[in-house]
Amino acid sequence: MSVRRLAEDAVQPTSFAFSVDNESWAEKTIRKYPEGRQQSAVIPLLMRAQEQDGWVTRAAIEHVAKRLSMPLIRVLEVATFYTQFQLKPIGTKAHIQICGTTPCMLRGSDDLKAVCARRIHAEQFHLNAAGTLSWEEVECLGACVNAPMAMVFKDTYEDLTPERLEEIIDAFERGEEVRPGPQIDRHLSAPVGGATTLTSLGDDDELGDRDEGPVRESAPQAGAGDAVHIAPSEAGRVDTHAEETDPSLRSPGAEAGVTASPAAEEAVSADPGEDGRSSAAVTGGTRQGSTGAHAKEAQADEAAKRHRTAGKRAELPAREAEAEAAVVDDKSRVVDNESSAKKPRARRKVDKASSDGSDGANGA
Ligand code: FES
Repeated sequence: MSVRRLAEDAVQPTSFAFSVDNESWAEKTIRKYPEGRQQSAVIPLLMRAQEQDGWVTRAAIEHVAKRLSMPLIRVLEVATFYTQFQLKPIGTKAHIQICGTTPCMLRGSDDLKAVCARRIHAEQFHLNAAGTLSWEEVECLGACVNAPMAMVFKDTYEDLTPERLEEIIDAFERGEEVRPGPQIDRHLSAPVGGATTLTSLGDDDELGDRDEGPVRESAPQAGAGDAVHIAPSEAGRVDTHAEETDPSLRSPGAEAGVTASPAAEEAVSADPGEDGRSSAAVTGGTRQGSTGAHAKEAQADEAAKRHRTAGKRAELPAREAEAEAAVVDDKSRVVDNESSAKKPRARRKVDKASSDGSDGANGA
């Protein structure tokens, strides 16, 4: 992408104002945005200014900035970033944008650019001698299927040849209308010459039948602009010949008519799995739209949980008795320890008292 600058001062008008119609449109457009978000109207306003004058002038940028209470640099950034904004005067009758991206390039866009260089100006973004025509190369315009193509204002001209482009340029110069869209025998982006596939839905229209004669001969021939009947696609429909569509096959959930109860779903959600995740997380969850398999899994989980809980309850009295016995045992051991620890001290006291007594006696 080249650097995009504003046009030189010599061609810049000194002021800008919307026409009466555009002014009321601008008012309405700005009011569409919530309070405090009026700056969002910057692109629509710039585009309307371009449609009015043919290109975005410096005065228009200043006008929009003032109108939306935006710093001028912010509006300049927008105008110079998007290549849809023309920053220099363009041809008054046509500005031809030739797509030069790969599909169009492979289909001959270089030849189209050569036509523009010869008929309009050797360099893009320059006016022809009369100031009526200009051209530029642009990136993909989204009509690659009909490459190569060009855009003039808001219309696209597709399936171009250098000769057809010259005719279009001549027509614009004369001020004539040119029919947009494909410029060959093609309807929109349908195959050239009409549909070659999906031409019938009849059961007897199998591939073998198609081999009997060239489909193209029997397919509707699309004149440009004529409607072509394109049969609905078979894509996404049930293939009744496939093994997996055998009606005798049923998914486990569908077969049993099983759906998960809310309680089962709760249990699955609350029950942590082996790795700490909930069963719902492991199974992908069964709360909404449970499949039969998931419902069964949830029920199995619930049953297992009930079993575990019941088992724990049954074990509880025995465990409590064991625990109580252990506590009693511990207490008695503590008492024993305490008494054995106290014994020597008591004995020491008795010994001391007896020795004191004997001392006293001795002393007495
Ligand atoms: S490449 Fe030309 S329209 Fe897409």
